[in-house]
Amino acid sequence: MGKRHFLVTGGAGFIGSHLVDALLEAGNAVTVLDDLSVGKEHHIAHHFARPDFHFVKGSVLDSSLVEQLVAAVDGVYHLAAVVGVKYVVEDPLHGMQVNVKGTETVLEAALHRGCKVVLASSSETYGKSPQVPFSEEDNVLLGATSIPRWSYAVAKLLDEHLAFAYYRQEGLPTAIVRYFNAYGPRLDPRGYGSVIARFISQALDGGPLTVHGNGEQTRSFTFVKDTVRGTIAAMETPESVGLTFNIGNPRETTMNRLAQLIQEALGTHLEIVHIPYAEAYGADFEDTPRRLPDVRRARNILGFEATIPLEEGLRQTILWFKEHRHEFIPT
Ligand SMILES: NC(=O)c1ccc[n+]([C@@H]2O[C@H](COP(=O)([O-])OP(=O)(O)OC[C@H]3O[C@@H](n4cnc5c(N)ncnc54)[C@H](O)[C@@H]3O)[C@@H](O)[C@H]2O)c1
Repeated sequence: MGKRHFLVTGGAGFIGSHLVDALLEAGNAVTVLDDLSVGKEHHIAHHFARPDFHFVKGSVLDSSLVEQLVAAVDGVYHLAAVVGVKYVVEDPLHGMQVNVKGTETVLEAALHRGCKVVLASSSETYGKSPQVPFSEEDNVLLGATSIPRWSYAVAKLLDEHLAFAYYRQEGLPTAIVRYFNAYGPRLDPRGYGSVIARFISQALDGGPLTVHGNGEQTRSFTFVKDTVRGTIAAMETPESVGLTFNIGNPRETTMNRLAQLIQEALGTHLEIVHIPYAEAYGADFEDTPRRLPDVRRARNILGFEATIPLEEGLRQTILWFKEHRHEFIPT
């Protein structure tokens, strides 16, 4: 296949910028649309001199801009979003506007263009489901609408419904990827609350490491290069259309174990402090006790499997944090 041109919304963000690196490396042209509300120009600045790379600072809520950019590409990776529970709890209205209206704008433009869309969704959509591992066709169990935390998951679920509706009713090829806790270089410790970023920066600052709750809750941490491979596989595999895929590492890790692994990698023996959820997030916070993907569909249809072990991913992430730490220290 010849050189293709992709639009990556949210391409200056954490996962988006790694996706941009991989797409360019594979010989594609890339345009990034990002409003830099969270994303950083320096995540993509190393591509600025390339003729096959374009960066546009703007919002996915700007429908004429989105139309214009989508009209020039062969496919769209839609990652732009207000990401994570922390930001959504702070400003649920803005979160829902970007995460729902922005997605609708991108899907509508792609329909006019007739190009495939890969939509970034989240393992948050499984909510409090007690049945693990989470499988794409499982029921989901979310909390009450009076609790703002769930608006992120609901918005992502509505995005998925929109993508399905555009596919079934309008024939727009869409595929959905549900990410499970991506981590790696370029994670921002001041960002939406990645526990890996928090632990590493706390450890580099001399501790203590703060664990929320009793620390026995689990996550399936997925190194960002694996996340990106799964995302590209969803674009490249024709059979992905009309389906949702868990993109995650099936190894489950407790927060207590994660804190230990990070200390082992750094050779530290710092204090670990457990703090109640209410103190970290406010009184009505609810956490999900376990988050583990069923990876069979991604393996069978996309040929995707996460391969980078947590220990190796943490090593690379810690290295990056050591080199870039000065960027996070307030002046
Ligand atoms: N990181 C994870 O573990 C994870 C897990 C599940 C889902 N996701 C999803 O993956 C995608 C990428 O997440 P990320 O971790 O890279 O987060 P991120 O915050 O680093 O990236 C999101 C990007 O979108 C941009 N953005 C926000 N509002 C915008 C707007 N109105 N117009 C244009 N750009 C806008 C931000 O500036 C940022 O660069 C998101 O859709 C997120 O919901 C991420």
